[in-house]
Amino acid sequence: MTRTIKPSILILAITMLAGCGSLIRSDDATLYEATRSEATRDWRVVNLVSPGADPHSFSRPDQVSVDHLTLELDVDFAREVLSGTATLSIANHTGADRLILDTRDLTIRDVTWGDGRDARWFLTQPTELLGRALVIELVPGVEKVVIDYETSPKAAAVQWLGPEQTASGKPFLFTQSQAILARTWVPIQDTPGVRFTYDATVRVPQGMLALMSAENPTSINGTGVYSFRMPQPIPSYLLALAAGDLRFRSLGPRSGVYAEPSVVEAAASEFSDTPKMITAAEEMYGPYRWGRYDILVLPASFPFGGMENPRLTFATPTIIAGDRSLVSLVAHELAHSWSGNLVTNATWNDFWLNEGFTNYFTERIMEELYGRDYSEMLAVLDLQDLREEIDDLGPTSADTHLYLDLAGRDPDEGMTNVAYVKGHFFLRWLEQQFGRERFDRFLREWFDENAFESRTTAEFVEFLDDRLLSGSEIDVTDVQRWIYSPALPSSLREPQSDRFSEVEREIDRFMTGTPATQLEVDGWSTHEWLHFIRNLPTLDESQMARLDAAFNLSETGNSEIKFAWLTAAIRADYDPAYPVLEQFLTEMGRRKFVLPLFEDLAKTEKGMIIARRIYSKTRPMYHTITRDSVDEALGWNEWREE
Ligand code: BES
Ligand code: ZN
Repeated sequence: MTRTIKPSILILAITMLAGCGSLIRSDDATLYEATRSEATRDWRVVNLVSPGADPHSFSRPDQVSVDHLTLELDVDFAREVLSGTATLSIANHTGADRLILDTRDLTIRDVTWGDGRDARWFLTQPTELLGRALVIELVPGVEKVVIDYETSPKAAAVQWLGPEQTASGKPFLFTQSQAILARTWVPIQDTPGVRFTYDATVRVPQGMLALMSAENPTSINGTGVYSFRMPQPIPSYLLALAAGDLRFRSLGPRSGVYAEPSVVEAAASEFSDTPKMITAAEEMYGPYRWGRYDILVLPASFPFGGMENPRLTFATPTIIAGDRSLVSLVAHELAHSWSGNLVTNATWNDFWLNEGFTNYFTERIMEELYGRDYSEMLAVLDLQDLREEIDDLGPTSADTHLYLDLAGRDPDEGMTNVAYVKGHFFLRWLEQQFGRERFDRFLREWFDENAFESRTTAEFVEFLDDRLLSGSEIDVTDVQRWIYSPALPSSLREPQSDRFSEVEREIDRFMTGTPATQLEVDGWSTHEWLHFIRNLPTLDESQMARLDAAFNLSETGNSEIKFAWLTAAIRADYDPAYPVLEQFLTEMGRRKFVLPLFEDLAKTEKGMIIARRIYSKTRPMYHTITRDSVDEALGWNEWREE
């Protein structure tokens, strides 16, 4: 492709790579290869190096793709770096003369070809969001490249925990690669559009167990050296590593749980329904294709609820409520073994293909195990969250479309209830149109026929049109409306929960003077309590105090109830809750709880003072993912003490 671009949009001319011209970067971080005309002194773009299909990766897998990774890593807790080699096996589809990888904050020490010859390479100038492209020269016959490198202590994917941050009092390490953070610990084509198998050898301090999103050991060995193999191809965002003082408990023939010693029994009891969930999922959408399904319970600073690392879901300890009431999170991460890990969103713009499908699938697993009235409560709670989110984003915002445009932005910005809940309700709507049997058959075909592939939204629409819509009454414009238009279509059908209608009656009774102690709350599950607390109007301090006295809400050990209660408490400026709030924000770092609580505090002057005091203390404990969000919400850079 030949194109002329004005020098003014070229920010940087980068090191010469003999025979390739120069690589230059325009202001949208796109890489171009260019030569400069001697006659006109104009840059002439002779070959578009990027963009490829994914705006969040420099790589060009259409030209050369990585199909296997061998990692050899030393985990150095003293320096907080991972150090070693990544050997990439490549398929060169077009006879390209270079391999382009994504990196961020990596130190590249050396690059060789598989036969040991030195390869020429360079790194492009860093960009904040995407990092640096690592460009490695290829010549015919090269099938492997070996990259000798180390990570930075500030690698965004990696959290190094000191003894005071873990239950065991021992150091701990974990990675979080989704969405575009794998490149901060492995030089790789960091796009969900590329899949590769991997194996790894990881050396950790003696006395620790290392685990990956792969075939895993179940006990600590004497050497600290562990080997891993992942025979199914995965995209880079599913690369994961953890190391710490971990124990394993079996939950069934193909599942179990890992956690720190003092947590593992509670975790095993909380997640005991996991084998049933796997069976229920398989009955709906076909065999579980990953061998084992285990859960790793991480220390409390884990920034997410769960992460669907293949074979080994990573989970927050905040879902261990003691009564199994928050296990829909396990169903969700398990469901990703089909929607996401098996059929993967091609780019982060197609994120709803991962999360919307998964939320729909979660609802179905929960219905199968615990009944329709249970799963409908979850759907009502989700829809309420979504409506609040649409209000926040603005009802005409393009970020309320299912198909997103995240080019030039952090894909994290797409992690809203739109992908999760609007996506879920779109599939519910399709189910209602075609009937469950027919729709299940359709979904099963989608998973089977696209297994181990990445798919775009447009490809899904085509598949849907071909297999379901054509010959039906349904107008494709109704479908388009869900995917490419803002907010919620009027065709949405409200979920119904009788159990919640009863809760609403109790809210009315309380608001019209019935003493808290006389409310009929017997037999309420976590979900009824959530609906109750979330739908209370703003109360005064004495109303809050009466509810608290009757139901001990400040003392609850259930993280979701505590979060809902603290949200109401901030709104009511209910003083007795502030110490509880401070304790909660100190003991865990899950962004879903931490960020909204700080945001709510920041709405008033008094709250902002409290927020700054607490955050100054808790910030170092949080993962970068949580920290970056809260820094922005509180304007931390403007008031932090140097
Ligand atoms: N894959 C997501 C987590 C994620 C998404 C991490 C995007 C980074 C970027 C995971 O499956 C997820 O959705 N987790 C939710 C829990 C779920 C029950 C809604 C979470 O962590 O809150
Ligand atoms: Zn998910």
